[in-house]
Amino acid sequence: MCGIVGYVGCKEATPVLINTLKKLEYRGYDSAGIAVMNDDEILVRKAKGALKVLEEMVVKEVIKGSIGIGHTRWATHGEPSDINAHPHTNVSGSIAIVHNGIVENYAKLKEQLQAQGIVFKSQTDTEVIAHLVNFFYEQTNDIFEAVKLALKKLEGSYALGVICKDYPDRIIAARKDSPLIVGLGKGENFIASDVPAVLEYTREVYFLDQKELAVVYSDHVDLFTEDGEKIIKEPFHVDWDMASAEKGGYAHFMLKEIYEQPKALRDTLHPRLVLEGNKPVDIKFDEMDFSSIFKNVERIIITACGTAYHAGVAARYIFEEFARVPVVVDVASEFRYRNPIISNKDVVIIISQSGETADTLAALRLAKEAGAQVVAITNCVGSTASREADKVIYTWAGPEIAVASTKAYTTQLMCLCLLALKMAYSRNTISKPEYEKLLSSLNEVPEKVEQVLKDQSIVQKFASQNFNKSKVFYIGRLIDSASSLESALKLKEVSYMHSEAFAAGELKHGPIALIDTDTLVVGIATQKALYEKINSNMEEVKSRGAATLIIGQGDTSVFNGSADTVITVPETEGMFAAIVSIIPVQLFAYYCSVLKGNNPDKPRNLAKSVTVE
Ligand code: M6R
Repeated sequence: MCGIVGYVGCKEATPVLINTLKKLEYRGYDSAGIAVMNDDEILVRKAKGALKVLEEMVVKEVIKGSIGIGHTRWATHGEPSDINAHPHTNVSGSIAIVHNGIVENYAKLKEQLQAQGIVFKSQTDTEVIAHLVNFFYEQTNDIFEAVKLALKKLEGSYALGVICKDYPDRIIAARKDSPLIVGLGKGENFIASDVPAVLEYTREVYFLDQKELAVVYSDHVDLFTEDGEKIIKEPFHVDWDMASAEKGGYAHFMLKEIYEQPKALRDTLHPRLVLEGNKPVDIKFDEMDFSSIFKNVERIIITACGTAYHAGVAARYIFEEFARVPVVVDVASEFRYRNPIISNKDVVIIISQSGETADTLAALRLAKEAGAQVVAITNCVGSTASREADKVIYTWAGPEIAVASTKAYTTQLMCLCLLALKMAYSRNTISKPEYEKLLSSLNEVPEKVEQVLKDQSIVQKFASQNFNKSKVFYIGRLIDSASSLESALKLKEVSYMHSEAFAAGELKHGPIALIDTDTLVVGIATQKALYEKINSNMEEVKSRGAATLIIGQGDTSVFNGSADTVITVPETEGMFAAIVSIIPVQLFAYYCSVLKGNNPDKPRNLAKSVTVE
């Protein structure tokens, strides 16, 4: 939700800012802007539209200067427009600010500032911060003090970059509830919302913690608490491959990330398998000890948002099946407000690709306050979730750039399967031979995903025949109903086709009224014992004119009469089949998006990281 960057060094700041912003466009892309210190004034350039509009503008009219800040926006307050684009400045233009987050009390602050005669230019909440910093600067004559005092007045979330014309050698940065890193170069330093922005320049970063401030100069960086006390912390060395943040020959990041799944799954699984010869016999989690958690747990609560929530819904079936522990699953935005009943016998699992989703972090904090043990499953080392949870399990998926989650989802499922199996074995709800058999099946999953990806032409053809349907419904039973939820989300977010998911048995309780000849119904069927049941549901919709597709495994002949098309994925142990059967629907969503002329990497109205409520 908005990306911010900053540069202090001896290069021209403008190309560096544009370049680093390009790596953050996934966070927002309705407008973009930069502010660069040019001799004794700050020059601001900003424009509605994608970053390339700004890029063209600054190529034509170059701004000289080697300190600057930049922003790519996902609008919250005020429509996407040139005026509402960041950076925002104080009235005289001597202080410029970029912000990611939401100032919840901005209306009150704005009123107070307007009462002092300040005229606002934009409808944004951020402009309040620029005027507030100015207010304290006039009192203190010290920009660091002014930012510090202004932050104390803000309610809500922020990652901030501030420059002031009277301090032409530094950027002041701060964060609360929105991510911010400081990149440490040689004779140059950076700020950014996310690591990929600075990877081309440096691999040494500081992750700013809650309410920390940084004063970033070209040759050093000072870190402070919110009260101005100095902090010393070790930089973190990022060892990702740069290529993993590039498209590598694929038309889109989404397609590349779909194809990266076998590797991502192997990277997530293999380091956790204990082998005897080639045979997996146990699971270890990065030397992290879960035994106390497994022994005492009476209930598991899983909470997350969007795709990560769907991984949680699927996990409910996996934990209950193997570990026989009751599971409650809730979307984090609901969980945090419904006064949930949590005890110290609960294990709360929060799932978040970014580890920065505001609602998920709020749920994490709530669970910790209530005394529960919190396990975070996240893809981002150093993310807030990874630092605040009691235990962390990383999905080693590599950076996920496309807004639509694909490899994050399947690797989240992989981690959840591992955790469920380890818990089951520790609690004696599965025997040693069962455990080893299940581990062997799980170990085969990456290869099965690879097999599905080898022949995706059937999905492509099916998409070309169905991308104009006005409604697409996904149905499934048990864990397949969780896959249906994820399938419907994937399709709607990138193709903008109306899609919904229903537990198949619920169809006749209402949704079947929607079925007509312009409807596609996709049945996900990996649970053999329920093939007959789902076949009846498919018959019911086919007889009412719907086009039908079954994604099944093994012998799918039962669907010959009810499905126009059957996509058969390699046979996989019941619970793990959810990782394999999701691949064709991810591809279907991707192809429908492209056929409709959309950019699947940048779906309208969405952003990758939802760091605001
Ligand atoms: O970073 P998170 O996993 O916490 O993000 C949660 C959701 O915003 C995310 O899963 C979103 O629904 C997907 N990008 C959609 O594909």
